[in-house]
Amino acid sequence: MVAFTSNSKLPRLILGLFLLVLLPLTSASDLKRRTLELMKRAPLIDGHNDLALQLRKMHKTLSQINLKNLTTTKTNIEKLQAGHVGAQFWSVYVMCSAQDKDAVRLTLEQIDLIKRMCTQYEEFDLVTSSKEIKDTRKIACLIGIEGGHSIDSSLGALRMFYDLGVRYMSLTHTCNTPWAETSSVGDHKFYLRNVSLTEFGEKVVLEMNRLGMLIDLSHTSISTAKAVLNVSRAPVVFSHSSAYAVCNHSRNVPDDILNMLKSNGGIVMVNLHTQFVACGETADISIVADHFDHIKKISGPDSIGIGGDYDGVTSFPVGLEDVSKYPNLIQELLRREWSEKEVEGVLRGNFLRVFESVEKVRRDSLTMSPIEAAVPYELVKNPCRLDLRNPFLSQASQASSLVPDTLMLYCIHTLK
Ligand SMILES: *[C@@H]1O[C@H](CO)[C@@H](O)[C@H](O)[C@H]1NC(C)=O
Ligand SMILES: *[C@@H]1O[C@H](CO)[C@@H](O)[C@H](O)[C@H]1NC(C)=O
Ligand SMILES: *[C@@H]1O[C@H](CO)[C@@H](O)[C@H](O)[C@H]1NC(C)=O
Ligand SMILES: *[C@@H]1O[C@H](CO)[C@@H](O)[C@H](O)[C@H]1NC(C)=O
Ligand SMILES: [Zn+2]
Repeated sequence: MVAFTSNSKLPRLILGLFLLVLLPLTSASDLKRRTLELMKRAPLIDGHNDLALQLRKMHKTLSQINLKNLTTTKTNIEKLQAGHVGAQFWSVYVMCSAQDKDAVRLTLEQIDLIKRMCTQYEEFDLVTSSKEIKDTRKIACLIGIEGGHSIDSSLGALRMFYDLGVRYMSLTHTCNTPWAETSSVGDHKFYLRNVSLTEFGEKVVLEMNRLGMLIDLSHTSISTAKAVLNVSRAPVVFSHSSAYAVCNHSRNVPDDILNMLKSNGGIVMVNLHTQFVACGETADISIVADHFDHIKKISGPDSIGIGGDYDGVTSFPVGLEDVSKYPNLIQELLRREWSEKEVEGVLRGNFLRVFESVEKVRRDSLTMSPIEAAVPYELVKNPCRLDLRNPFLSQASQASSLVPDTLMLYCIHTLK
């Protein structure tokens, strides 16, 4: 054994020290390589992006901008490609201030915008099913409505939105609707009633089940979420929420609901907004990964996805500044010894499982009739709502105590 002579110890020691220094570097580059290979094989399905809102706010038409390299937003096509985003739910978000006014028109206009955006660029593929997400080699575009006020308490409007390609609806945004409650207290003065999900709200949930539209519980109150989990025939999603136990923001999901998700089969798609991940203005990737670890501990690795909320909120963690940075997060999960199978679930497998179950509930419901229930008129405090059974009377004249006189007179006058 010539190699073990005493005069060869020094070089071996030096070599050993050298390797020790090098090891973290090699494993970091190894992790990066594994991350990119994994994301190429399993591109991300992201649950929530508000680019459509930003385009609207910029007062620019689609023809005036280049979505490939737009610099004023956190999302553009080049960044989506760099971030290995394989499917994106584009949020149709209409401010709560449009409730009982022109929410339905604005919702239609945002759907129109997303459809034009996704057909105009060859990098996009507008899809409506899990199979199409799996089959396309482009970035799959899906549409989600953010806020039940968009249907104006109408199951007919809900069904028509499904026909237009909408595949999820968040039951509320930051305002109550006549039938469901928001987690935001005091942001708006709409419907300050203490109900989690009314009888009509249950009908909305069951009709979404029948249609095959995913129910999104991000933004709903805890009691609304629990009531929905009690009623829904299909798994639900939280399209952009994080873990309450890690950051106690009202937008996040508490442990008892995470526990209910186990039997429901639904998922939390983790939101990256610093206010929701770190309860503050700044955050790093580590605290984001803490949310993943926590949700995994409570409801299992199969109950997690990602819903970045890019272009919907302003502050993001260092290292996750825009949609091109997703690989940094995936690399941190691998570094924390999440298995590749678990990470593949986070990237797309878990969402696809939920979507497929929702589609199966639709197939199983083909013999069910559409629900014809209408919201009780007195519950919608909109003086301008027209009752076609009695078109010459506005609701205001039937329930005059509910509305300010000026608005009431305006609506009665307009109707005549
Ligand atoms: C975006 O790309 C177009 C065409 O490829 C180019 O003309 C334009 O200067 C680019 N804009 C930015 C901001 O890079
Ligand atoms: C809402 O009702 C629940 C029980 O029905 C009660 O515990 C709670 O205090 C009520 N909240 C408000 C704001 O009225
Ligand atoms: C769940 O449903 C059952 C039976 O339909 C009902 O008794 C119970 O109050 C519901 N729980 C919640 C939290 O809505
Ligand atoms: C949230 O956590 C912070 C700090 O841990 C604490 O000061 C605050 O009271 C908590 N808020 C709620 C609603 O529990
Ligand atoms: Zn939101």
